[in-house]
Amino acid sequence: MIIPLVNNNHTTDKKKNIDQSRTPYFEALENYIDSNITTFHVPGHQQGKGAHERFREFVKKYGLEADVSQVLGLDDINQPSSVVREAQELAALAYNADHTYFMINGSSSGNHAMILSILNPGDKILLPRNVHRSTTGALILSGAVPVYMEPEYDYEMQVDHTVTPETVEKTLKENPDAKAVYILSPTYYGAACNLKEIVGIAHRYDKPTLVDAAWGPHFHFHPDLPMSALDAGADMCINSTHKLGGSMCQASMVHVKGDRIDRGRLESAIRLFLSTSPSCLMVASLDMARMNLATRGFELLDNTLEITNYARDEINQVKGLRTFGYELVGRPGVYGFDGTRLTITARELGYTGYEVEQILRNQYNLQIEMSELFNCVALITIGHTKEDVRKIVSACKDVKNWNREHAMLSKIKLFYKRKDRPLELPDWPRQLMTPREAFVAPFEVVSFRESIGRICNEMITPYPPGIPMLRPGDEITVEVVDHIILEMEAGVHIQGPQDPTLKTIRVVK
Ligand SMILES: Cc1ncc(COP(=O)(O)O)c(C=O)c1O
Repeated sequence: MIIPLVNNNHTTDKKKNIDQSRTPYFEALENYIDSNITTFHVPGHQQGKGAHERFREFVKKYGLEADVSQVLGLDDINQPSSVVREAQELAALAYNADHTYFMINGSSSGNHAMILSILNPGDKILLPRNVHRSTTGALILSGAVPVYMEPEYDYEMQVDHTVTPETVEKTLKENPDAKAVYILSPTYYGAACNLKEIVGIAHRYDKPTLVDAAWGPHFHFHPDLPMSALDAGADMCINSTHKLGGSMCQASMVHVKGDRIDRGRLESAIRLFLSTSPSCLMVASLDMARMNLATRGFELLDNTLEITNYARDEINQVKGLRTFGYELVGRPGVYGFDGTRLTITARELGYTGYEVEQILRNQYNLQIEMSELFNCVALITIGHTKEDVRKIVSACKDVKNWNREHAMLSKIKLFYKRKDRPLELPDWPRQLMTPREAFVAPFEVVSFRESIGRICNEMITPYPPGIPMLRPGDEITVEVVDHIILEMEAGVHIQGPQDPTLKTIRVVK
């Protein structure tokens, strides 16, 4: 008798009843597009409106015909020698870089490649606590040892801004053996640090400065925006071109300047994260976004700034609502501000940021970029007109008709009062193991509420904004557990844990 190596007869009775003609994801996408929502989220081209008209028409005309990967004549993004190389060289010139690399898995893979290009297992890197989860991913991959710097906390906004030059200098003094300084600027909320001074300090200690400028791909193209990372002297940075520069989702860039970065190692690191079947449309969208910004970025961004300023002024006149703007500049950790960011809070009226997002979507057909407990953020980009922005303004002016079904913030305040604590984010937990050590360590699963005092083995990230509240290696504290439970009650989407309900958590054994 021949025993088949593979049993092809997988169809159990249960599976027989499943209707394989269903396409839940595709249908959800169809519905989203059909519902004619006005978008204020990434990608910055806002469903094509902010893409260059030649690219928009091309995609409309050719659709799937243009979905090709690398073939003769279209170069190889993994080892560019002709048109990709030329496009990257033009991007480098446009961005004031020496070399630019196109990434097709977002700035997430840019973060991985930047850190792997410099750090070996055991090497120290200075970085702020409020980095994106992809930076923690890079620490796990590289085996680097993070030395965390405290970002400046804003008690009015209830968010972390950036780190100050003083904090960088102090941490460098305490850690002269660090291999590199890593900075996050700007933040999700548009706060930028004094990068020029920070780079000056790092270079005095002869340390390369890497910058997560995922939210700054437009900075170089308008003088009223904060200084771009490269203009401030950074050695390497990432830009999510797709977030605010007009390329397709996931299409980002890594830029390098000067001779502190080993380009050979960087290119090897980049290749670790590049698909060998890249979408040519994504690569082309980077080429077109660069062209658009380089040839008319000033004029496009001028309009974006004007309409965002208009929105801020109007919304600030609505009783109970508040938007944050240029008045932030000068607060600790805010040296510059991206005026295209619209952060709204309705805290005074008892609404969480999550609820404002729901209200804008359900009552006004507007989809913003992100929300958290206290605030929500709408992205105003080169894809917007004043007409679009008027919609969010008029939704805010209609605040008396907002559905008060939830208005949960008042309940949350009570929750914290009970515990005799003001309503604010908890302190960052202590790091007891490096992210890599904890990630690969034997683990056990325990009840989340009983995990206090244990070392976390996984990453717990409210998404957005994507800043982990617990990373592998962190000591789990009562404040963090309380806060995560509170956020979950308020409706946060948590990424990372094996158990998505977080009734249990993986801790180091
Ligand atoms: C600060 C920061 N860095 C990196 C990333 C990752 O960027 P991407 O979505 O392009 O992978 C994000 C995403 O939101 C981010 O906020």
